[in-house]
Amino acid sequence: MAEMNAVARFFVNTFGARRNRRRWRWIREHLALPPGASCLEIGPGNGSMAALLVEGLAPQRYLAMELDARQLSAAREYARKHPLEGSRGALSLERADMLHLPLPDRSIDAAFAFVALHHASPSHRDFSRVPDALAEIDRTLRPGGYLVYEEFVHKEKIRRWLDDHRFARVAVRQGWAREWVIARKPG
Ligand SMILES: C[S@@+](CC[C@H](N)C(=O)[O-])C[C@H]1O[C@@H](n2cnc3c(N)ncnc32)[C@H](O)[C@@H]1O
Repeated sequence: MAEMNAVARFFVNTFGARRNRRRWRWIREHLALPPGASCLEIGPGNGSMAALLVEGLAPQRYLAMELDARQLSAAREYARKHPLEGSRGALSLERADMLHLPLPDRSIDAAFAFVALHHASPSHRDFSRVPDALAEIDRTLRPGGYLVYEEFVHKEKIRRWLDDHRFARVAVRQGWAREWVIARKPG
């Protein structure tokens, strides 16, 4: 995995509120989940986006899987300081590697990855392990399940991988550097 240094961690964990609200407004417009949905987030960082999605989507369970123990502590601290009103029991924060998700096949309705997929490889410019992460997410998704992600590297290659695996593009938003994609696994 590509580890973040202390400075990167500080920026990722500190300046997220406005960015998270923009993400949520866009997701709300384009994503419809079945009642009682099971969600997965890989690389949740400080967990603030997970909290927004749990409140907004009201899933039955939201499994946030983070490899870095310091980030996991930050996410647990965030959850402690920002208790969720309605969906308290849905959020679970676990230590896990996106390349080996401790989840059964076809158990997830929507997987989220915000600026996390490229961390599958040892360095940001290296695409080599990203297909493994995508395959692992694909394994856990139910037919018709969604992958929602934001990336600033390997954008075309990730889209090509999804096309090759017959994911349909539900929505794409391309910004100056980043893109947001909602893709649907064939049903
Ligand atoms: C750039 S941060 C993004 C954090 C958060 N999603 C956000 O948008 O603020 C990438 C996150 O992925 C985590 N990560 C890196 N490699 C991982 C892996 N193999 N499995 C799970 N999480 C990983 C990092 O520790 C970090 O928290």
